[in-house]
Amino acid sequence: MSEQANPYAAFDHHAPNHRKNAEALWAELRALPALAHSERHGGFYVVTRHSDLRAAAAQHAIYSSAFGVALPSEDRTPHIPEEVDPPLQREYRKILDPFLARGVVDQFEPIVARHALALLDSFADEREVDFVARFSRPFPVLASIESFGFPPGDGEQLLGLVTGLIANRGNEAGKRASQDLTAYILNLLAAKAARPDADIVTAIAQGSVAGRALTQAEQVSMTRLLLFGGFTTVDLALSCAAYLFAKQPALLRRLHEAPDLMATAVEEIVRIASPATYLARTVTCPAQLGGAALQQGDRILLCFAAANRDPEMFEHPLDVQLDRNPNPHVAFGFGTHRCVGSMFAKLEMRVALAELARRYERFELVDEDTLAWGQGETQGFAQLPLKLHPRRTATR
Ligand code: HEM
Repeated sequence: MSEQANPYAAFDHHAPNHRKNAEALWAELRALPALAHSERHGGFYVVTRHSDLRAAAAQHAIYSSAFGVALPSEDRTPHIPEEVDPPLQREYRKILDPFLARGVVDQFEPIVARHALALLDSFADEREVDFVARFSRPFPVLASIESFGFPPGDGEQLLGLVTGLIANRGNEAGKRASQDLTAYILNLLAAKAARPDADIVTAIAQGSVAGRALTQAEQVSMTRLLLFGGFTTVDLALSCAAYLFAKQPALLRRLHEAPDLMATAVEEIVRIASPATYLARTVTCPAQLGGAALQQGDRILLCFAAANRDPEMFEHPLDVQLDRNPNPHVAFGFGTHRCVGSMFAKLEMRVALAELARRYERFELVDEDTLAWGQGETQGFAQLPLKLHPRRTATR
């Protein structure tokens, strides 16, 4: 179809500031009788309705993750378990799940809280900060590595590697940071194999699937995804929370008045933020989805953020309702690949947001016009300069 006949031929989630203007586009795509098709990146269909996204994510045999979930495909080894289909994917999950299950993650709360407090203390006397650089980016890195069994003293080194890697994706500096991170992980896995601890990195170092030990490449991939799965996503969810608090001061006031709303508030912020905004699947056999006839080899792009705003599923979907319940959002995915770290992510957010609410009366955007939403698979703010207005008496 020509670009003229197909108004969505140029749809590109990698276009600069795509997300800034996406609400109207997502509404339009959800209302179409059949999935929109883009001609970009080799061609793909865009899945925006909640029901279609759930159907695709649930049928992993038809909509495979094994050809990569990035679109366009990236030249790299597969991310494990995200880019593996069942039954093998479920075996990898058996290694990770016991450490990250509901209730189990509560053991990490003292570590998570210590890092949140230390970072917030570091700018307690400042009235203007880049919230991303000073809090939302370093916090999940420092909180998760100590929780997962990395030496806590390596926090700054890992933060540097990860920040360098994210900032330099695709160039030489990024490649070097990636190699350094792999070398670091290999050393750590060897140390854990020699001196096992009761932690998740040891479980990976000693792990097995399908009756054989994990290869070194599998161990590295799992360890890397464990880190990267939770760094950018939690960063973007927290910076989105701070942005929403600045734009709608009543939200933070609500948390001051009713701190027990924190659990539903976290779900609602993750729904609106949908930091894992777009992920792809590859069609393995002829199939019907959302009014489109798909062929083997077609690629589909799941838009979690659009599904999370589907008026068929959410009343007043663009309103941020901190007490929204039920909240059947798909921000953590759906089906077999549903996020293994969701309980840990929610713990981090609960702790961070409670402490922010305890300390601050309100936030103010320094300059909304200069704020840029990221593009690609994970979308949110790379910077968020904020004016901070502390509470006169921070409560406990
Ligand atoms: C707000 C924070 C987070 C969001 C929004 C998020 C979102 C997601 C989504 C949408 C998926 C499904 C991917 C797919 O269907 O292809 C996923 C999977 C995954 N997430 Fe998260 N995530 C978050 C935090 C974390 C954390 C903290 C960790 C690590 C502890 C983590 C590790 C993973 C891993 C390893 C997978 C792959 C699971 C599998 O394929 O079986 N995530 N996440």
